[in-house]
Amino acid sequence: MNIEDTLIMIPGPVPVVPRILRAMAQPVINHRGEEFAELFNECRELFSDLFQTKNEILLLSGSGTSGMEAAVRNTISPDDRIVTVVNGKFGERFRDIGRLCGNTIAIESEWGYPIDLDAVAAALEDGADAVAMVHNETSVGMLNSAAEVGKLARKHDALFIMDGITSIGGTEVFVDKWGVDIAILGSQKCIGAPPGFAAVSVSERAFEKMEAVQNPPYYLDLKAHKKSADKGQTPYTPSIPLFYAVQEALRIAHEEGLVTRMKRHATGAAAVRAAADAMGLEMFPQLNENSRYSDTVTAMKVPSGIAFDQLKKEMLGCGILIAGGQAHLKGNIFRIGSMGNFRAKDILITIQMLESILHRNGVVSDFGAGIEAATSVLM
Ligand SMILES: Cc1ncc(COP(=O)(O)O)c(C=O)c1O
Repeated sequence: MNIEDTLIMIPGPVPVVPRILRAMAQPVINHRGEEFAELFNECRELFSDLFQTKNEILLLSGSGTSGMEAAVRNTISPDDRIVTVVNGKFGERFRDIGRLCGNTIAIESEWGYPIDLDAVAAALEDGADAVAMVHNETSVGMLNSAAEVGKLARKHDALFIMDGITSIGGTEVFVDKWGVDIAILGSQKCIGAPPGFAAVSVSERAFEKMEAVQNPPYYLDLKAHKKSADKGQTPYTPSIPLFYAVQEALRIAHEEGLVTRMKRHATGAAAVRAAADAMGLEMFPQLNENSRYSDTVTAMKVPSGIAFDQLKKEMLGCGILIAGGQAHLKGNIFRIGSMGNFRAKDILITIQMLESILHRNGVVSDFGAGIEAATSVLM
């Protein structure tokens, strides 16, 4: 495999365009100086638009999980009750972090099945202090209803923590409108920067809750981050190259325009689904009226006639990396990511190769239907 020219079509990390890579080559500057404050404040301002929020934006050195952990550990004390909504791998992560901090009420659906809103409502009615959920459950290619959960959290005066790691910047997210107290983004997903950086938006309510929290974290203390952010800084030395990358990624997103960007993502995933349907592939998620297919990653069942390892190997032989299933879904599903700064040609070449391989292996008989379906959505 030639890693220099492999097209990465997994749900993150995504390919980093040259403009962002070049931005990382700028000189390392003093993180307590004026230039850094400018860089820092521009990132925060541009993130506010992406998150659709007036809440505080804090920038963390750490991957998406650092944002998830920061959100829960800064707000949940041992006596608190946190509802964690699980229908995939990343919902389980919230559940596991929750268990480290307080009483965790895990509301679990089978992976790929809709979240149980009635059970969430009942737990909140019963006095739970917070609810944490994944908006775009990457492990199963499904978009959960954040708006509904936000409404329930508000009604019961509970804190709402939302993992928007693979939605913000690629799918419409309205942090303020939905009443999200802490929302989290990961750099290597929809904004198309390298991994290792998380942005979180934090509401006044969440800061108030932090005042009383027992055992807050040290490195990920969001109150310390807020205090430094007021000076245009981070509490500890940040990765300056990553900040440059994120700044450039955000500039690209804003030059494209958020509406156009969301539409490009929705169209990209729709093209993959249309092609899958035309090739007789089955979607993995089981939807209801409160859930929909992800706009940034498509999860399909591995068809009979080819094993996932073989499919992956043959795709890689054509220069394209696709993702498999995680945990118990290994070998059962495969996923195509369409997030970040991808173009129509990336989707088309992926579908073309996928269709050719499935045809060669006797899985697809009507050769050409997949690429035709994808093309008609994209062009
Ligand atoms: C929805 C979601 N949450 C959390 C994570 C974890 O992010 P990271 O690997 O950046 O810590 C991922 C990564 O794929 C994700 O897709």
